[in-house]
Amino acid sequence: MKLLSNGPEETFRCGFTLGKRLGKGDTVCLFGELGAGKTTFVKGIASALGIPERKITSASFTIIAEYTGTVNKATVPFYHIDLYRLQGIAELDSIGIEEYIGRDGISVIEWAERLGEVEGSISVTFTIVAEDKREITIEGMDETGRNNL
Ligand SMILES: Nc1ncnc2c1ncn2[C@@H]1O[C@H](COP(=O)(O)OP(=O)(O)OP(=O)(O)O)[C@@H](O)[C@H]1O
Ligand SMILES: [Mg+2]
Repeated sequence: MKLLSNGPEETFRCGFTLGKRLGKGDTVCLFGELGAGKTTFVKGIASALGIPERKITSASFTIIAEYTGTVNKATVPFYHIDLYRLQGIAELDSIGIEEYIGRDGISVIEWAERLGEVEGSISVTFTIVAEDKREITIEGMDETGRNNL
């Protein structure tokens, strides 16, 4: 599905709505150029899991940041993965990324194209259409057996 966001708050809210539909083992792959709104969306997802948005940062050298989220009163690890600064496939191996994705937690991945396709993942693509407007395309919600947004 395609949505038009008219500002960061709308992108946040869209992330929040998606976040409310996520559960253990889900992976959300985010695509879009610098400043397209990926981290803003991640803050919305985090907030839906009870994680304060101020805890979610961009521009850090941490490739994987781990948080504790809550889904239906149960604790679920939340992994915010940002592959922008990835030095190549060898670094992915050294991090052991497959130990996070699709396991016990919920993973969101910025610059997911650096990873290749993640089977069964939800993909969200951000396109800058004007200074404050972003087109947001969400794919893969149906395949996960949940209702569309
Ligand atoms: N509709 C919108 N949705 C999201 N962000 C918007 C929107 N309009 C303007 N912005 C601005 O665009 C920027 C988006 O930044 P954000 O960190 O979310 O992007 P990003 O895709 O994570 O970038 P990076 O690739 O550097 O990690 C913010 O400065 C935000 O205020
Ligand atoms: Mg970002």
